[in-house]
Amino acid sequence: MTDLMSGTKWVIKEKVMVNIGVLVSGRGTNLQAIIEAIEEGKIAGEIKVVMSDNPDAYALKRAQQYHIATRYINFKGFKNREDYDKEIIKILEEKKIELVVLAGYMRILSPYFIRTYQNKIMNIHPALLPSFIGLHSQKQAVEYGVKISGCTVHFVDEGIDSGPIILQKAVEVCDDDTEESLAEKILEEEHQIYPRAIQLFCEGRLVIKGRRVLIK
Ligand code: GRF
Repeated sequence: MTDLMSGTKWVIKEKVMVNIGVLVSGRGTNLQAIIEAIEEGKIAGEIKVVMSDNPDAYALKRAQQYHIATRYINFKGFKNREDYDKEIIKILEEKKIELVVLAGYMRILSPYFIRTYQNKIMNIHPALLPSFIGLHSQKQAVEYGVKISGCTVHFVDEGIDSGPIILQKAVEVCDDDTEESLAEKILEEEHQIYPRAIQLFCEGRLVIKGRRVLIK
């Protein structure tokens, strides 16, 4: 744009939006929290596609309500995990995705996927890692008898829930907590820290140094 009076060039500072792809398998409450944070202008990013291995995932409906492109990819059509992931990557590349967000995605990613998007895949886990990895973390926490549990956002590496930790939030485990009540408490915190971690990524403020993620 040129100022007609002085002929000076104005530099219009545009917000650079990060292209986000989200993988889901279920109800999608974390997806919902992320969408809402984007709608509120808190995240300099845009969800370009939501993909699922489950055609009935309610998360797909949530995305459609916001006119976000969705794709269901049936695992049965592929001979192994890597071939399936290659199909997903094809779509991520078409959409020029720069950050892959796993939000209740129930499949383990192949090493090929992880190498292709090295340090660009995030996951949320409903426990304070490295405790209670894998499935049913809230049940594991109650049965173990811990007094504190919580949630963790981390980058995804080739291990199970083992990548560098971005953010964590603790919740108290009370005497009368059950797996369900603890899950509910943790979920509330998940909805706070996942959008926040994505916001930090989109602002280029996450620096990975070995196992540590520094927030600039
Ligand atoms: C959350 O508990 C998350 O920590 C775990 O899967 C669940 C997904 O819930 N990875 P939702 O589909 O986002 O509601």
